[in-house]
Amino acid sequence: MMSRGATTVVRSVMGQMGPRLFSTAAGNASITGVMRANAGLIGSEKAVVTWWITSSPIGARHASTMTLGEKVQQPDQKEEATGSGGAAAGGQKGKEVVSYWGVQPPKVTKEDGSEWKWHCFRPWETYQADLSIDLKKHHTPTTFLDKLAYWTVKSLRFPTDVFFQKRYGCRAMMLETVAAVPGMVGGMLLHCKSLRRFEPSGGWIKALLEEAENERMHLMTFMEVSKPRWYERALVFTVQGVFFNAYFLAYLASPKLAHRIVGYLEEEAIHSYTEFLKELDKGTIENVKAPAIAIDYWRLPADSTLRDVVMVVRADEAHHRDVNHFASDIHYQGLELKDSPAPIGYH
Ligand SMILES: [Fe+2]
Ligand SMILES: [Fe+2]
Repeated sequence: MMSRGATTVVRSVMGQMGPRLFSTAAGNASITGVMRANAGLIGSEKAVVTWWITSSPIGARHASTMTLGEKVQQPDQKEEATGSGGAAAGGQKGKEVVSYWGVQPPKVTKEDGSEWKWHCFRPWETYQADLSIDLKKHHTPTTFLDKLAYWTVKSLRFPTDVFFQKRYGCRAMMLETVAAVPGMVGGMLLHCKSLRRFEPSGGWIKALLEEAENERMHLMTFMEVSKPRWYERALVFTVQGVFFNAYFLAYLASPKLAHRIVGYLEEEAIHSYTEFLKELDKGTIENVKAPAIAIDYWRLPADSTLRDVVMVVRADEAHHRDVNHFASDIHYQGLELKDSPAPIGYH
């Protein structure tokens, strides 16, 4: 137990360091005006480009438009922010740029012509989750490594259950901070391996980085419905330091084991989100309106709720489960990942 004096000291230190170490808001502030700069261009100065995106696993195609400004505004032609981007898009008066290095950035809009307000992802990165994916699929551990992976994950669940209990919103947010690490570590190591060996990766670098980015978007979404407290941010800081290094070493030692661990972590994530849905259905967790960022990222209907968001996130986790068990299986067959094409393009 931490004494009251110690708690006061920690609280004071976190109060000073917290915004610097754990805040994520400031980084978004300076780029809002980039999109605003084009708004002042007259119609004749715009060129409209339409692109089509084949993004969803069920074949849905999305259209959007990009307006390319031909006229580059001068650096002193600043406009004031209107703040329409919300917290995730960022926006502070007097801290905007109108171009990057003199290049006029494109104006990105939605299908209805309204401004695309998210800087952390773009229309071509959005998709519709595959809700038909089998949620019950389970890899039965048979070998020693499989059992090691399985019981490692199971043993991690106990402290997680104790810490979060039924606070599933908070639990989801915290777990996503961990879930976004393996894809980045695996992708980075495969990237370096590809460079060292002068050989292609079979698409696996992209597939794993896609997973990391997708998990990070889960986090950005749950940040909108559950605000972390200072000690939870501190916990993330600590856990990330341990988990990143542990997974890095595990992947170097045995990618077969590392991917299997992630496969089982994803199975647990599916279970957690299923419990989350049960609590929403029982009414113990309020089924609030879906965050705007989630509606745009997963192309959800405008009247979607938190339940719809949890459904698509759970489908994503099932996809990650399949990718990672598949990666481990490739190693079990004595092959390398590059020998089997990666399941890229889920989005
Ligand atoms: Fe996730
Ligand atoms: Fe996942």
